[in-house]
Amino acid sequence: MYKTKITCLGAGYVGGPTMAMIAAKCPHIEVTVVDPNKERIEAWNSDRLPIYEPGLDEIVREARGRNLHFKTDVEGAIRSGDIIFVCVGTPTKTYGVGAGRAADLKYIESAARMIARVAEGSKIIVEKSTIPVKTAEAILTILRSNSTHGEFQVLSNPEFLAEGTAIADLQNPDRILIGGERTPAGDAAVAKLVDVYARWVPRERIITSNLWSSELSKLVANAFLAQRISSINSISALCEVTGADVDEVANAIGKDSRIGPKFLKASVGFGGSCFQKDILNLVYLCEHFGLPEVAAYWESVVKMNDWQKHRFTKQIVRTLFNTVSGKRIAILGFAFKKDTNDTRESAAISVVRGLLEENATVVVYDPKVPAEEIRCDVLGIDKEDSRLLVAGSAEEAADGAHALAVLTEWDQFKTLDFAKILDGMHKPAFVFDGRNILPRDAMQKLGFEVFAIGKPAAA
Ligand code: UDX
Repeated sequence: MYKTKITCLGAGYVGGPTMAMIAAKCPHIEVTVVDPNKERIEAWNSDRLPIYEPGLDEIVREARGRNLHFKTDVEGAIRSGDIIFVCVGTPTKTYGVGAGRAADLKYIESAARMIARVAEGSKIIVEKSTIPVKTAEAILTILRSNSTHGEFQVLSNPEFLAEGTAIADLQNPDRILIGGERTPAGDAAVAKLVDVYARWVPRERIITSNLWSSELSKLVANAFLAQRISSINSISALCEVTGADVDEVANAIGKDSRIGPKFLKASVGFGGSCFQKDILNLVYLCEHFGLPEVAAYWESVVKMNDWQKHRFTKQIVRTLFNTVSGKRIAILGFAFKKDTNDTRESAAISVVRGLLEENATVVVYDPKVPAEEIRCDVLGIDKEDSRLLVAGSAEEAADGAHALAVLTEWDQFKTLDFAKILDGMHKPAFVFDGRNILPRDAMQKLGFEVFAIGKPAAA
């Protein structure tokens, strides 16, 4: 019998890997991940996990069947868990008040209502999903006003892991943040969760705070990271027209220890499920609390990102003699960054849509994203529509193309056989490097016309 039982509601990108790590590091704790989605749970129980993360297979294999279980019996797992992590989705609202900005908390709320209905005895509820500040208060209100047999403490324990490095981030986090009510019962709940992480994370990296600080810190961390990218991307445009080189500028400013070198890589634009969503959430909060200037300040980070994606598409059209109609454009990379198959908010979606609007024939190659997903992400594109094709290799995508654009920084794109690719392309063979990863000088020598983000045009 296990002394502590952890239940996780939601078997997605956050719940799955986080629980696998806890189970691997804490063999004395029984961890059950539940999700009403049967296919997803089946996938977690199979050899083909529903998400791709380097190192994930190994830790799941180590703990699954021992003290890590994936099930669809949500109620049973709520009943048996002492600590219940809530890792359900919090998409941006698509309807009503706050549409396009506020987080849709319907999954959080139904999770809270189910816990209230089913749970007996004392439970610690941990919010891991990214949520607007003060959600813990709402969860507590729902729990305490609907439950007759349960006693609850709600903690905020935001997840800072990045996709593609989730396992490394979980293994060796910069910090673990745990917020709780500043009462004796709240402190005891915080201490219990601290003990779980302390099995593998040094104590000095486990920070505790009040609930609201913890909730807000998550949004602010992502807003600051995204802001750095939008800042360097804004400078990339200036570099292109002045002859400065954005990588040299980033290197020079990053050497200032107050600025630091990370998250200064200019790109076609940031994507992913978090940055835009969290900033829009922050913007909504600021507006809600009567702080329009603060809201506008953070919103500009998203606007700059939209502009950067749009600017890249326009650059392609302009360079190809102002028309891409009927031309074949090879797109290398569709995931929002390398080492993941996730395409949520990927810059590629915006660029591909823009090119299709200009009537280009777009041929996408991504080493990890399945063809159906590419088609379904680029909404409005009919299965039969031959203007959007998916290739099985970079060479195939580039064959017969007028231009080639790199949108995800997959390592394999750095070392393609460019001479062969050039042979198969129309001339002039244009290349648009949205990630600054290609060997620009060598490609120019071969005969490509290369445009790269934030780089001066070739003489
Ligand atoms: C982010 C946060 O890093 C993580 O802490 C949080 O928990 C979730 O959101 P993630 O979305 O997985 O993680 O990816 P991240 O590595 O942060 O990259 C986000 C986007 O920014 C990607 O599209 C990436 O290509 C882009 N990026 C990142 C840049 O364009 N330039 C950079 O210098 C860094």
